[in-house]
Formats: sequence, C-alpha cells, structure tokens
Amino acid sequence: MTLSLDRGVELPYAHPAVASARALAGVLAPRQHWSERDLARLTRRFATRAAEQLYLAARFDARDRWHLRLALTEEVEVWLLTWTRGQGTGSHDHGGASGAYTVLHGALTETWTDRRGRRKRTIRAAGSSTSYGPDRVHTVQNCGTLEAISVHAYSPPRPTAPGLT
Ligand SMILES: [Fe+2]
Repeated sequence: MTLSLDRGVELPYAHPAVASARALAGVLAPRQHWSERDLARLTRRFATRAAEQLYLAARFDARDRWHLRLALTEEVEVWLLTWTRGQGTGSHDHGGASGAYTVLHGALTETWTDRRGRRKRTIRAAGSSTSYGPDRVHTVQNCGTLEAISVHAYSPPRPTAPGLT
C-alpha cells in the first residue's frame, strides 16, 4: 500500500509522544483485519496507557481543529484530536474506513443516522468509546463546557490527510 501523505515515513510509524510508552508495546502488531471492536480497544489503550503523554502533547486551536498523527501502520492509523468549545465537524464519511474513538477529556456529541434511517444523537463523556463501520456518516461536536481531547483510529488508513474526524 502506498500512502501519498507518508512518502518517506517508515512504517510502522509512532509519534515520539507515544513511541516510548512501554505500555503501548505490541498494540499495533500486524493483524489480518481490524474490526470495529479492535479499533475501539486500540483507542482505549492509547487513552488509558498513554494518557499523560497525550495530555502533554495536546494543543488547542480555536481557529482550526488541532490534530496529531500518533501512529500509522499498513493496516491502521491513530490520531489525537482536540476540540475547543463549540468546535465540530460537518457531516462526513470516512472514505470506506471503519473507525473508533475514545474521549480522553471533556465530552463530544455525535449525530448520525442508523441503518434503519433513524437519527441518533449521543453525548460521549470522557472515558467512553464508540466504533463504527465504513457506512457511518456523522457529525462530531464539542457542545460541552470543557475543551475536549479524543483518540481516533481508522482502518484501513486513508490516503489523504484525515485526522480531523
Ligand atoms: Fe468521523
């Protein structure tokens, strides 16, 4: 697989903020398939086992949502995202990828339409995780009173800069 964004990046890649986190050793080991459940577990592991490193790495930008690639393999990518109060995405899909995220700090409000066409809206508090298949179209917003930090994983990795959702 060629990832145009990452020419020159040796895979697997891990950002220095997490590369030295011994508690994360092995969590990105190659596997045939990353299920939605696997992706949720992966984001939880980053959020719990490297929480201190992620808090230190996080930055906030009220003009543009801030993001940092934490890890990239042939099969999966992991991003750290921050959300100032009121920041959010537009409605979007994930380019055929499955995904998951864990809220590390604050809360995020997710809105989507389920497979039966019912509109759903859920507030995901710090410590909560969710995952979804490639058919998910959603918006994610920080409607809370705190800034928010979240860890996101996507599989397969997407060839253009995602990171934002
Ligand atoms: Fe998304």
